[in-house]
Amino acid sequence: MKYTVKEVKRIFLDYFKNHEHKQIKNSSIIPENVDSLLFINAGMAPIKNVFTGQQIPESKRMCNMQICIRTNDIDSIGDRHHLSSFCMLGSWSVGDYFKEDAIRFATDLLTNHFNIPIEKLYATAFSGDEKRGIPADTDSEIYWKKVGFKDNQIVKCGFEDNFWRMGDGESPCGPCTEVFYDTGAEHGKSYEESGYFDDKKRYIEIWNAGVFMQYLQKEDGTYTNLPFNSVDTGSGLERLVMTLNGFDSVYETEVYKPILEFVAQNAKTPNTQSLRIIADHIKTSVLILNAGIEPSNAKRGYVLRRLLRRAIRHIRTIGAEPSLILEVAKRTIDNLIECDIAPDWNFSKEEIVAKIMQENDKFSKLLGNGLKEFNNFISREENIESGELKPELVFKLYDTFGFPFEMTRELAEENNIKVNEEEFNKLFEKHKEVSKGDIGKVFKCGLAETNEITTKLHTATHLLQAGLKKVLGDHVSQKGSNITDERLRFDFNFERKMTPEEIKAVEDFVNDVISKNVQVVKEEMSYEDAQKSGALGLFANKYGDVVSVYTIGEYSKEICGGPHAENTGDLGKFKIAKEESSSAGVRRIKGILN
Ligand code: ALA
Repeated sequence: MKYTVKEVKRIFLDYFKNHEHKQIKNSSIIPENVDSLLFINAGMAPIKNVFTGQQIPESKRMCNMQICIRTNDIDSIGDRHHLSSFCMLGSWSVGDYFKEDAIRFATDLLTNHFNIPIEKLYATAFSGDEKRGIPADTDSEIYWKKVGFKDNQIVKCGFEDNFWRMGDGESPCGPCTEVFYDTGAEHGKSYEESGYFDDKKRYIEIWNAGVFMQYLQKEDGTYTNLPFNSVDTGSGLERLVMTLNGFDSVYETEVYKPILEFVAQNAKTPNTQSLRIIADHIKTSVLILNAGIEPSNAKRGYVLRRLLRRAIRHIRTIGAEPSLILEVAKRTIDNLIECDIAPDWNFSKEEIVAKIMQENDKFSKLLGNGLKEFNNFISREENIESGELKPELVFKLYDTFGFPFEMTRELAEENNIKVNEEEFNKLFEKHKEVSKGDIGKVFKCGLAETNEITTKLHTATHLLQAGLKKVLGDHVSQKGSNITDERLRFDFNFERKMTPEEIKAVEDFVNDVISKNVQVVKEEMSYEDAQKSGALGLFANKYGDVVSVYTIGEYSKEICGGPHAENTGDLGKFKIAKEESSSAGVRRIKGILN
């Protein structure tokens, strides 16, 4: 093997460090400052505010390796180079150098340090978008030519391919220039100037060598100019290693290969697609679990559940024991460390494996019967209408057997049957509308006595939990609560003492919501629907069939028995009087209102 993962990471980071870039740390995969993202999907996401001038960067030149999760590709996993989690090597200039230097650095690194012959490289340049009023990036073309690219090595692309932003929400953004590697004539037709560019098989993208950040995309889809120009680059480490070694897929890199081999050895009927899905999904699940997310039916927890359940199903498909998932998870954790691409561990290997075991136990029991039911459904003609499995049967598989919709779609596709997502969603919504019923057995949220002051402290407790999640991370959750006439007491999982800045940030968050006079809204629904709606809750077995959910604007949603203040404006000023240890890994806050 020519290049290891460790070496490629080192060469990339050393190159930029040798050119005055400061290496910054890998952030958590849970975004702290981006509401529009479920997971960090690019190296720039944790530092996006430096590009708008809202935050001061550690340095005007930076680089790092950031673990990223891209959930939109989950269904394509199993091909040559899609992954649901990967390491992005990134470099940044914040209001420092711009296009010319970025292109010079990229060419120098690729040709002189990774020794790729320049004729193997192709670069794209933004061709402009009249509708949005964004001009073509003709400068980049000039600079690529200056470093030795020929006309037929430069491909002009439009908005979809060559304009980069973090997602649909507010994001610094700009035209980008991507570098592709030519894997050779055996993989497809060669590019002729202005002709077809086969970026699926023959030319593989190895580096977004520069998003030229000039604009701010607003929530409403319009663009304004940023106060200064920046460069954001990102290269998928696994893909770069694949390309440099001439591998056919990312699964031949040492990040995945030993795992695939181990799974194959333990399978009666291995197939490439299943092996790849298992290795990819378990790796991503380990990373999500380490960030404190638990499998659930909403948002991040649902992504995790989908990944784990799909891996569990493919373990069954290849004729392996269900418990194989546990050994794969352990080996995945060891291998991430071995490859030098592990995150900071918030949980031990045993803790992560134990969480996988819980989901495995829960789903493995349902899976066998669910698959029988599925086969039963599709064997009857009356269940298939115009090539589609009846939506109520798809819903039954979800509701009774825990089959994520996407899993049923995958199973159906393997049998040349379609499923209707829109109809499934309608049934899903309908199911939410439950009749109002017994709410006697609701959970009291630590409220022993009910009077005006305890009611207000109770509402403050919900805001406190929301604030702690926002400031310390989503993995923080309630471990206990007790409210008296004088104070609230709130216990939560967190490993260390909070800093004075963090305490202030949480107080500010609560007081900010108080000052906004937000209405506290109560709804009643089934426990399952409450969970699906993303409401926080505790001790599932203490709830009744129908629960009440209290929502405080966009800030907080919790399953709770109440009572609560009607409006946050009634609370007064919130203060954290004390922050101390409660027991191992659990902190305790005492808070007051005055
Ligand atoms: N943020 C850019 C990307 O992810 C570099 O492609």
